Amino acid sequence: MKVIVIIPAAGLGTRMASNSDAVRQQGVPSKQFTELGGTPILIHTLRKFVAFRSISDIWIALRKSEIASFRARLNKETVNQTSIHLVEGGEYRQHSVSKALAAFAAEPEDIVLVHDAVRPFITGQIIQGVIDGTRKYGAAIAGIPAVDTVKQVDRTADGAIVTATMPRERLVMAQTPQGFRYDVLKKAFDEADSDGFLGTDEASLVERSGHEVAVVMGSPRNIKITSPADLELAEFYLRSEVLSTQ
Ligand code: C5P
Repeated sequence: MKVIVIIPAAGLGTRMASNSDAVRQQGVPSKQFTELGGTPILIHTLRKFVAFRSISDIWIALRKSEIASFRARLNKETVNQTSIHLVEGGEYRQHSVSKALAAFAAEPEDIVLVHDAVRPFITGQIIQGVIDGTRKYGAAIAGIPAVDTVKQVDRTADGAIVTATMPRERLVMAQTPQGFRYDVLKKAFDEADSDGFLGTDEASLVERSGHEVAVVMGSPRNIKITSPADLELAEFYLRSEVLSTQ
């Protein structure tokens, strides 16, 4: 049984920039290439998976215009690159993952982990937890209990109006990695594709295909760097990570 990782890294990251037009015109790096301690976020994330021994291959989906420069950046890295593959991503995250999934063959029982490029504070412990959960259930995601009360709203021209309050004890904030047996994930993507369904994570595709998805403990530190405020927090976490390895 192999463990294969897909890292979707083809987002524009418009929420990171104060001027989203600049991102579109490629004047500003997309969020996965924003530097953290002088190193692109994607490289920090990649190092975590490269260091995890049981992973056989890592597929990274990138915007076409960023593939050559990322390849050059990778060449400067001291990581073993034989198992790192770059593919062109798509318009939405799901399309990027789908293109990576289409690029390799696997056995039904192989495990595919999908991890956001912009979650560099993933730990080996969480990766192992998701792999173990996937072995047991066929599908498992990292998640943490919700600490905020979550409201469902109707969006109106004047703003949002609350229509319901979700019972917090039944809510989990989904993170990545999200792990799946290859056959479970492939079936879910094929079905979503033929139904025209677009989800914001892979688990939602697997849920709608009728397969149960287990949740394993993630971490509040496993943040998705999305806004400039997240970047400030990330710099703080990076410093504490460096200190703990000294
Ligand atoms: O935009 P979102 O927050 O969903 O991004 C989550 C991850 O998906 C990021 O790592 C981003 O680069 C990736 N993504 C992608 N292709 C897209 C959009 C997002 O690979 N078209």
